[in-house]
Amino acid sequence: MRLLLNDAVPGAAAPGRELDPAALERLYAYPDRPWLRANMVSTLDGAAAGSDGRTGTINTPADLVVFTLLRDLADVILVGAGTARAEGYRHADTRTGDRAARALAEGRAAQPELAVVSGTGRIPPLLERESHSGGGVFLVTRAAAGPEALDRARRVLGADRVLVCGEHTVDLAAAVAALAGRGLPRILCEGGPRLLADVAAAGLLDELCLTLVPLLSGGLEQRIAAGAVADRPLVPGVVIESEGTLLQRWLRPGD
Ligand SMILES: NC(=O)c1ccc[n+]([C@@H]2O[C@H](COP(=O)([O-])OP(=O)(O)OC[C@H]3O[C@@H](n4cnc5c(N)ncnc54)[C@H](OP(=O)(O)O)[C@@H]3O)[C@@H](O)[C@H]2O)c1
Repeated sequence: MRLLLNDAVPGAAAPGRELDPAALERLYAYPDRPWLRANMVSTLDGAAAGSDGRTGTINTPADLVVFTLLRDLADVILVGAGTARAEGYRHADTRTGDRAARALAEGRAAQPELAVVSGTGRIPPLLERESHSGGGVFLVTRAAAGPEALDRARRVLGADRVLVCGEHTVDLAAAVAALAGRGLPRILCEGGPRLLADVAAAGLLDELCLTLVPLLSGGLEQRIAAGAVADRPLVPGVVIESEGTLLQRWLRPGD
């Protein structure tokens, strides 16, 4: 991995350098305050998934390295229920032995939590199962999901893991505050496109980590943000190249 630009983390590594894992981690360190980072992958022509509707067919080894690192660094992964269903999300268990031990030593959980956003209050099927080694699951929903869905979610996940944020729409600012209030200030949003657009439109996006893969895919797949109009300017903070894949951190101007 070769660092092309670093305007974000002075002193972490100099452009032109090959990056070792420690330098890569310094470049992606969370700031010391509540922070919402999104991580998305796109083809050169803007597709957010392959023709099978999943990201596994467009991502690259370098993308996987950063995807795993960002999960390791986060307290909680915020994901739309549509993505959790399409991608078959399970309880997060990507922290390896060393990293899990380090997280525990820092007073954090061994694995990051997962917070699934669903307006209908439906838990994606694979997240209904118990997991002994993976992180926990929160459901972020709204009162209009209705008593039946909410009661069921509380039975499956536990009452304290169902966050009812807003009446008619999911109030994402309230959700972010609720997660931070539970000791989970480092948030990693893994999409999908609707959730990313909503997060950005609500002014909650501190950072976009964007992987651009060296592939022109055609087809009719969505872009990485779709739905709500967001119009948020971002500036490049870090750019890394690895075998044609560009790994980028985009930040709010001034951050
Ligand atoms: N390129 C990438 O990095 C990337 C990342 C993630 C996903 N994807 C791809 O994106 C596709 C899925 O797209 P999508 O738009 O369906 O994703 P999504 O945003 O994950 O899912 C939309 C669904 O999630 C819930 N949801 C999301 N935001 C919500 C909000 N603000 N309020 C209430 N509910 C909300 C709703 O679930 P309910 O129906 O339960 O109410 C909604 O129907 C898949 O092909 C996936 O592979 C790509």
